[in-house]
Amino acid sequence: MDGTGQPICQYRLCVAAGSSIANDAFLRACRGLPVERVPVWFMRQAGRSLPEYRAIRGEGSMLDTIARPEVATEITLQPVRRYGVDAAILYSDIVVPTHAIGFGVDIVPGVGPVVEHPFREARDLDRLRPLDPDADTPYVLETVRNLVAELDVPLIAFAGAPFTMASYLVEGGPSRTHALTKRFMHSEPDLWAALMDRLADLAIASIGSQLDAGAAAFQLFDSWAGALAPDEYRQFVLPASQRVFAELGNRGDGVPGIHFGVGTGELLELLAKAGADVVGVDWRVHLDDARERLGPDVAVQGNLDPAAVLAPWPVVADRATDVLDRNAGQPGHVFNLGHGVLPETDPETLEQVVELVHRYKALP
Ligand code: CP3
Repeated sequence: MDGTGQPICQYRLCVAAGSSIANDAFLRACRGLPVERVPVWFMRQAGRSLPEYRAIRGEGSMLDTIARPEVATEITLQPVRRYGVDAAILYSDIVVPTHAIGFGVDIVPGVGPVVEHPFREARDLDRLRPLDPDADTPYVLETVRNLVAELDVPLIAFAGAPFTMASYLVEGGPSRTHALTKRFMHSEPDLWAALMDRLADLAIASIGSQLDAGAAAFQLFDSWAGALAPDEYRQFVLPASQRVFAELGNRGDGVPGIHFGVGTGELLELLAKAGADVVGVDWRVHLDDARERLGPDVAVQGNLDPAAVLAPWPVVADRATDVLDRNAGQPGHVFNLGHGVLPETDPETLEQVVELVHRYKALP
């Protein structure tokens, strides 16, 4: 934000018009400013729930699709067109930077990220060299630039947070218990800190390059941080995630940062303490309780249960309205699901949710 409280224009329509941006409700809500209608977007809004995505995606590794800017651009735009959401999120994945520097990670359909040689010892740090975005991920930057030229809503940049990335690299793939990761963290705290530092550098370089290319906000995905007790988070994770927000904040362009996790009800204050402008809340915590824990200076994002969206419409409508009622019309709410859209979701239901959120008026 600039000194007058006006959002700094980050994307094309704004620059072209030289005045107000086409739809800045999302950025205003991130900054805790009043909005005419509650902004809404969905994590995984681009993806398998959309027939047009399945048609364009084809077979093969998702990483190959991400590396084709014209396809990645189209996939990012699909849900924006269909749903009329107030923000776009780049079609990419949290493992793209680690893949791009040659760590040896792929995304297996139905499984998720799989690492051929997991992180085991100090010399594995050498496999985590710094990211040079122009050379390593030029396709991501081309996609961002394409999108910024097309969109009339803000584009959200993102990266995986150090803990969630460490979990994939240490476990070698998705894990229910994160047992190897926690054992490592507790038994080799110095090496762990060095790993977290490298992963923070990757997130900073990746998000920074997406912002340079024109993205207007960013989200740090710490999807699995909810596996940690607050003391563990504070000691082993907070310093690295704090550095991500601090260094991106030091850019001085006022781009808002969202900090997201799942099952993080007991960590909400710590997610905010990392330096976020907006804290993602999942469906396990009522939004009014989250607000009470977080205080007035932080915006919230959430928090309809993605599985509730599979219910008959009257139930979905009730649950979505409950989320909105719990926020009670306060500024600083971005409507979203508590986690990503499930592949079996009916896109028509999400269309109706967007309409409901946009029409909602809080009782005076
Ligand atoms: O719309 C968006 O949210 C933007 C795109 C996006 C994807 N992944 C696309 C994707 C984003 C922001 C991510 C981040 C991501 N990737 C996270 C953090 C968010 C979260 O879900 O908690 C995580 C943990 C990953 C790792 C990952 N990638 C998983 C667990 C999976 C699912 C595996 C599967 O097939 O069930 C992926 C694959 C993935 N990422 C898909 C999409 C659209 C499905 C890919 C396909 O087409 O096969």
